[in-house]
Amino acid sequence: MPLKTTAKTLALAAALVALPMTASTAFASTGEDVYKKTCKMCHDRGMANAPKTGDVAEWQKRLAKGMDVMYKHAIEGFKDKGMMPPKGGNSKLTDDEVKAAVDYMIEKSK
Ligand code: HEC
Repeated sequence: MPLKTTAKTLALAAALVALPMTASTAFASTGEDVYKKTCKMCHDRGMANAPKTGDVAEWQKRLAKGMDVMYKHAIEGFKDKGMMPPKGGNSKLTDDEVKAAVDYMIEKSK
């Protein structure tokens, strides 16, 4: 039954390809969800001197401080020319959720 075997093999191959894709999509949507619910209102339009998501030059300056500093300032808050509230003002977020949102914003600003 060469036909059946081919179908089975194809189904298995499709399942194997689908697996890692599902995993990475789930991770990306967490940061994206947090961003859209909590960070977007300031970072989309650059409200109150917030660095705009997608503004490559602005983020490059900030990224020069290092990723650890980016996470720390997002979690604890940061005040320079504007005011970044701790966890974007949503204290219910876990540190990991805030970090995922930072990753999402920076990924969009490269
Ligand atoms: C109320 C508006 C507001 C919200 C909501 C907000 N931010 Fe910000 N954020 C700012 C402002 C303003 C700055 C710039 C602060 C400065 O440079 O003085 C900033 C800066 C940052 C920086 C750069 C810090 C640095 O050291 O340069 C990161 C990273 C960041 N925000 C992440 C986030 C994340 C992640 C969220 C959502 C969980 C979020 N922000 C929500 C206003 C906001």
